[in-house]
Amino acid sequence: MEVIIQPTREAAALLTAKIIAAEVRKNPAAVLGLATGATVEPVYTNLIEMHHKEGLDFSLCKTFNLDEYVGLNGDHPASYRYFMNTHLFDHINIDKRNTHIPNGMASDLKAECLEYEEAIWNAGGIDIQLLGIGLDGHIGFNEPMSSLQSRTRVKQLNPITIRQNAGYFGGPDKMPRRAITMGVGTILDSQRCIMLATGASKAEILAEAIEGPFCAKVTASALQWHRHAVVIVDENCALHLKNREYYDWSFNHQPEWAPFRT
Ligand code: GLP
Repeated sequence: MEVIIQPTREAAALLTAKIIAAEVRKNPAAVLGLATGATVEPVYTNLIEMHHKEGLDFSLCKTFNLDEYVGLNGDHPASYRYFMNTHLFDHINIDKRNTHIPNGMASDLKAECLEYEEAIWNAGGIDIQLLGIGLDGHIGFNEPMSSLQSRTRVKQLNPITIRQNAGYFGGPDKMPRRAITMGVGTILDSQRCIMLATGASKAEILAEAIEGPFCAKVTASALQWHRHAVVIVDENCALHLKNREYYDWSFNHQPEWAPFRT
């Protein structure tokens, strides 16, 4: 795992977008794993700008989102389908038929989860998976104690998560209680993972995930097990990291990062 600290939230999002864009340029038919949440919004804003100004081409890309709430259809403004359409897909040249988000309205949720896993497999697997982190340390909606080998399935949401995301629904009482989420094992299967975390509110859980034990209590810690994971944070979120000197030194000296250093 590599950790890259950027001065601001904007710089962290821009670097994340540049890494995804580089993947798309190298492999125009890339399979992108995508995430939702306020943290990744500026990543999508940057990708849209790169599409318009630099001709970044998504026409052959496929996408798979991490999760969706159970019981919401894609027209619901708080659904992740709606989020993805409005924050990214409506503004780039992606074929919407190639964009995949679990169907939270499926009558057979178990079958939907299996089909989602199959679709990822049939696409050849995810080349690069974007992730955020929840206040309880989750990735996707893999709440504490999720199996680190789990696959796509329905998860009961943590009250912490319900409080965190209630704003999108006009109050915790209106929030769905369950979501379909890729499992930790599904996420670990992607070729590359890139987690973006910004802001002081995530600083403690981020430090636990990165420098604490590899454990189901904080499912983001599973990235320690991944063979090619990059975590990008801003200064505010880096507050509790102990190995800062090494992270900075590594980013500044590794040839792989030369094109990304400004
Ligand atoms: C939800 C999503 C996660 C995301 C998290 C963080 O819980 N399921 O994938 O990482 O929100 O959201 P935010 O960036 O708004 O803090």
